[in-house]
Amino acid sequence: MSNVRAYRAALVHFSDDPRAAGPEACIHHPDGLLLVEDGHVAACGDWRTLSATLPADVPVEHLPGRLLTPGFVDAHVHFPQTDMIGAPSGQLLDWLETRTFPTERAFADLAHARDTAKAFVAELLRNGTTTALVFGSVHRAATEALFEAADGLDMRLIAGKSLMDLGPEGLNETVEAGRADTEALIRDWSRRGRLGYAVTPRYALSSTPAQLEDAGRILARHDHVWMQTHLAENPGEVRLVGQAYPDACDYLDVYDRFGLVGPRSVFAHAVHMTDRSLHRMAKAGAAIAHCPTSNLFLGSGLYDLARVDAHGVRTGLGTDIGAGTSFSILSTAGCACQVAKLRGGALDPVRALYLATLGGARTLGLNDRIGSFRPGAEADFVALDPGATPLMARRTAGVSDLADLLSALMILGDDRAVARTWIAGRVAHDRG
Ligand code: GUN
Ligand code: ZN
Repeated sequence: MSNVRAYRAALVHFSDDPRAAGPEACIHHPDGLLLVEDGHVAACGDWRTLSATLPADVPVEHLPGRLLTPGFVDAHVHFPQTDMIGAPSGQLLDWLETRTFPTERAFADLAHARDTAKAFVAELLRNGTTTALVFGSVHRAATEALFEAADGLDMRLIAGKSLMDLGPEGLNETVEAGRADTEALIRDWSRRGRLGYAVTPRYALSSTPAQLEDAGRILARHDHVWMQTHLAENPGEVRLVGQAYPDACDYLDVYDRFGLVGPRSVFAHAVHMTDRSLHRMAKAGAAIAHCPTSNLFLGSGLYDLARVDAHGVRTGLGTDIGAGTSFSILSTAGCACQVAKLRGGALDPVRALYLATLGGARTLGLNDRIGSFRPGAEADFVALDPGATPLMARRTAGVSDLADLLSALMILGDDRAVARTWIAGRVAHDRG
């Protein structure tokens, strides 16, 4: 019984999207019990009913005042941009040229890549993020450093090295080199432990048509790999893509003609979308990583969640570090609520927590393994502390309404609100 652990605390998780399935999709136990065995959820329910069935030798840890949720899923983040958050610049294309590419050039140095990869993974855990879909730089060894760091912690993490044969000097590669590096990474890292690989053409303007076509071929050769890229983030970018591909009906169509739009494809941003492309994404089963803090920081635009929902396209949340301004998916969820309001719609904080957990897992097609406390799910979870700061303690004192509590956590909280993070049932971060 030594591999069984029981935690008594408030619990919240989801069986489905509350937008479609209604409020019962949110499962909330104000006094709950989470039973973990061999790195998986064994049971989850009310303390009073479930504790009666607990064998006497199972240790129960009582976490009064804590709220346990499944670990957060960051559906879009760049590990080489860890140290450039908030770099002053203009919009996307200026930011890439003046800030991002110079920062990523340094990842040719393996020692720097290893150091940053360790700091990046630690920062994910401090923020309660237990799974991420991660962009690497163009350098194969730097992406290997990230896989090494995640594998050492048994994290479920998907990553890929950026493909960019049109990259600036020092970040450039040939189609052949990009293919060889990608194939080697898939061979060496994909499906090792809990890791996965994503073929990663950076965006339509960083690859020639020949490289995009090659990326589609790589994807077709490996049915277990993902595809990640950027889509329709910025109006100037969208214009340039239209000029480069005058025959394409829209930005998504550029990726589509190279076989890059499918059920394992995750597109970051999708702020400036045609109805046709949303319809096509729904049909293909492709998903979107919504990155609200990045869209505000770079002045890219406001994501239209209601419109994406109406088309039946899955949305997850992405920090998009380093254009994004916080590693915290809690903060990102709070920002998504505000952006939905600016768009004339609404995202309530309960559904925002769904997007941060099960919704993110669905975006990555991993909802059979992570994202909830369903028995059998991998035990990646967090203990949130609504009283993490003096102000949060005042704000949440006596709050029993879940929506109000979650809203306060999302608007006031960040890494400070994450008391502990578990990976596969083991404590991977403890704020102390
Ligand atoms: N488009 C192409 N590369 C990038 C990047 O690194 N960040 C963001 N936000 N958009 C991109
Ligand atoms: Zn990005």
